[in-house]
Amino acid sequence: MQNMKTRPFDLNAIRKDFPTLSVSVRGKPLVYLDNAATTLKPKSVIRALNRYYKDECSNVHRGVHYLSEKATAEYERAREKISHFINARLSSEIIFTRGTTDAINIVAQSYGRTFLKAGDEILISHMEHHSNIVPWQILCEEKGCVLKVAPVNDAGELILDEFKKLVNPKTRFISIVYVSNSLGTINPIKEIIDFAHAHKIPVLVDAAQAVGHRAIDVRGLDCDFLAFSGHKLFGPTGVGVLYGKEDLLNAMPPAQGGGDMIATVTFEKTTYNVLPYKFEAGTPPIAGVIGLGAAVDYVRSIGFENIGTHEKELLEYGTRALKAIPGLRLIGTAQHKASILSFVLDKIHPHDLGTLVDEQGVAIRTGHHCTMPLMARFNVPATARASLAFYNTKKEIDSLVAAIYKAKKVFT
Ligand code: ALA
Repeated sequence: MQNMKTRPFDLNAIRKDFPTLSVSVRGKPLVYLDNAATTLKPKSVIRALNRYYKDECSNVHRGVHYLSEKATAEYERAREKISHFINARLSSEIIFTRGTTDAINIVAQSYGRTFLKAGDEILISHMEHHSNIVPWQILCEEKGCVLKVAPVNDAGELILDEFKKLVNPKTRFISIVYVSNSLGTINPIKEIIDFAHAHKIPVLVDAAQAVGHRAIDVRGLDCDFLAFSGHKLFGPTGVGVLYGKEDLLNAMPPAQGGGDMIATVTFEKTTYNVLPYKFEAGTPPIAGVIGLGAAVDYVRSIGFENIGTHEKELLEYGTRALKAIPGLRLIGTAQHKASILSFVLDKIHPHDLGTLVDEQGVAIRTGHHCTMPLMARFNVPATARASLAFYNTKKEIDSLVAAIYKAKKVFT
C-alpha cells in the first residue's frame, strides 16, 4: 500500500523478468493465460528462493547461530513488507499459512468453533470457491450452524439486495470472495463490510484472486480477516497469509499445536505464544515467505495503477475478441470485472477445447474451477477460462482466438 517508486511500464522489459515466458511448449512459444490458477514467478523471486536455500538455509526463531539469525531476520522482514503491502496496523496481524485454503480453515476452526453455536448462520455467496464453502460446511456439521448462500444474477454479479435480506440476528459470520476466480466478478466488498459491521457481524475476505491485481488496504476496507496465497501474487506455492484484526486473533485459540506456538509447556499446562506465532505451529515455509517478500517488492515496483490500466485494456480487448467468435458464450459478464474470461463454445466440451488450444501452445484452464455450485447456477458442467496478468499481451489474446478457431474446425 505504501508509496514506492514504480518503474515505467515497459511490457517487453517486464516480460524478460519472467523466465517461463520464454519457454516453448509443443514446439510453440508458450502463451500463458492461466494466471488465476497460478502466476509465473519473476527472476527476483527465484533468486530469493535460491539464495535462501544456497546461502542462508537454516531454521527460524530457533538458533543463536549466524545463519538462523539471518534467516529469521529475512523471514520477519517479509512479514513487515506484507504488512505494509496490505496496510495492516501491526505486522503481528500477518499470519503465515500454507495458502488461502489453510487461512480460511484456520478461521473456521479457531474462530468458528469458539464463537459460533448451533443455529448461528454463516453467510457466503453463490460464487465462492470450494475453499470458502467446505470449511464452513465442516463447521456447520460439527456445531449445528446453518450455511446461507446469497444468489448471483445472470451476469455473475452478487445480488446485493438479496444478500442484505439474508442478514438477520442469527447471522454471526460472513465470508465472501473479493474477486471470483471463475467469473472475474469484483464484489462491492467495502459496502458488504460496512453493512455487516452495522449489524455487528465479522467479515472474512477471500482475496486470493484480488491480491495480484488491485491494491488491498485492510484498514481502509476494515475487514476482520483477509486471506490470500503467495503463488497468485507472483510468489512461491505453499505459502499464504491470514490477516486478522489483533483483538480477534488474540481472542481465538490456536488452530494447531506444536513448536513455536507455545510460551511454556508442561504436561499439566501449556501456555501460548503471542501473535503471530500462536498461529504458526511447526517450521514454517521459510523459503516461501522470503520469496513472497520478494514478490511483494516486485509487484510494488510495477505498481497497481499500471497493472490495473494494462489489465483493463487486455480485458476489454479479450472480451471483444472472444464475443466475436460465433457460438462462444461468455460466462461472467459483470460490470466490475477483473481480467478473467470464462466461456463455453458451441457443443465443444471445455476439456476438448483446452486440449486443442494447448496444441497451439496456449495454456488456459478448463473445468469447474473449484466452483461447482456456480457452474450449476449457469447450467454448465465446466468452462474454459483465460485469466490474464500484467505481463500478457494483446498478441497473446490473438493467439488464443486463432487457437479457438482452429479447434472449432476440428469439430465441424
Ligand atoms: N483456485 C485456482 C483457480 O481458480 C486454482 O484456478
